[in-house]
Amino acid sequence: MKLSKRIEKVEYTAIRKLTPYADKARKEGKKIYALNIGAPDTDVPDVYYETFKTFKKGPLPYTNAQGHPELREATAKYYKNRNIKFDADDIYITSGASEAILFTFQVIANEGDAVLTTDPFYTNYMTVFDQLGVELDAFKTDPDKGFALPEEEEIEKHINDKTVAILLSNPTNPTGALYSEEEINRIVNLAKKHDLYIVADEVYREFVYDGNTYKSFGEVEGIEENLILIDSISKRFGACGARVGSVASKNKRFNDGINKLCNCRLAASTIEQVAAAKLYGIDKSYFEEVNKEYQKRRDVIYEELISIPGVTVKKPKGAFYVMPKLPVDDTEKFAIWMIENFDIDGETIMFAPAKGFFKNKEDGKQMIRLAFILNIDAIKKSMRILREGIKAYVSENEKR
Ligand SMILES: Cc1ncc(COP(=O)(O)O)c(C=O)c1O
Repeated sequence: MKLSKRIEKVEYTAIRKLTPYADKARKEGKKIYALNIGAPDTDVPDVYYETFKTFKKGPLPYTNAQGHPELREATAKYYKNRNIKFDADDIYITSGASEAILFTFQVIANEGDAVLTTDPFYTNYMTVFDQLGVELDAFKTDPDKGFALPEEEEIEKHINDKTVAILLSNPTNPTGALYSEEEINRIVNLAKKHDLYIVADEVYREFVYDGNTYKSFGEVEGIEENLILIDSISKRFGACGARVGSVASKNKRFNDGINKLCNCRLAASTIEQVAAAKLYGIDKSYFEEVNKEYQKRRDVIYEELISIPGVTVKKPKGAFYVMPKLPVDDTEKFAIWMIENFDIDGETIMFAPAKGFFKNKEDGKQMIRLAFILNIDAIKKSMRILREGIKAYVSENEKR
């Protein structure tokens, strides 16, 4: 029996590649601080779990294929409060943003088409494109400029007959970059000029630091036909396990395509959607508290990183990732070495080697992605382990 060529092309996501090494080390008794996956440790607001108790025993039917009306209404209300122009009818609920991304490109891209994004990019975009035979084209963003977007002309050089969309995560996974209104406008201009979709992945919208304002693509006038907005409750409410996301657009033909796919998989989880709707009703002080905590973590990890000899890094402005460059040749080898051969009092750390986030793997070979999703104490301990690990690894390699 054979497998499809499609699946043979798909690689394991870079974020989870080291898990087997970590599992083995854990079995042998090591404690591992996992900074490789962006799963927040903050509590989901109580109202979420309380909603589960209100369900009566009996049959549990499919809900509406487009999504539970209560959740679509709650999401639309949340958008209205942020000046994002989508009504409940424009919103399709999916099983996480992951399904929304897959559905979106199933609808808008043929095999051989290209999608333009930043380099580095969220690595799972690549796994989706590999499944669909879509080419990922990427324009470089400079680590020394905090991974800001390049000038419009630079991005435009990548647009050709095959390009169907520009895809951006903002704030960005994996770099923590936050795009200004002016940077957003570069993408808007190009999408209008070349008749492209803008796929805006805004799952980190609430994670913006230093009092910066956030400009959503959903606020921009005149791109109603172009814009596809991807969203999720995973990060916003610390609810990755709920698997509730969405895709929204004003483009009726696009929505019809999405609707076919939603119908094809019948529905997303009923109970999770009803509970998620309640999350959108909570007070905005929740977002402020969470934001404050993540900003503190960002400050601690940044200060620790810049104090490690040989490490270079810019302060991230959003999301909960930072991508420093380390004084080692290949961070994948270093990551495995840290898990297998290094510990301080039985503790070590795991991070994502950055090459999986780059189109040309060589570009990310000296960088890593850290997710600051642990409490401040754990971050401090992890950075001490990283500092000492780098020292030991560099001196061991110099001896060879
Ligand atoms: C940029 C980005 N988009 C989408 C997702 C997927 O989110 P979800 O848990 O909703 O599938 C992630 C998860 O890490 C992400 O970082």
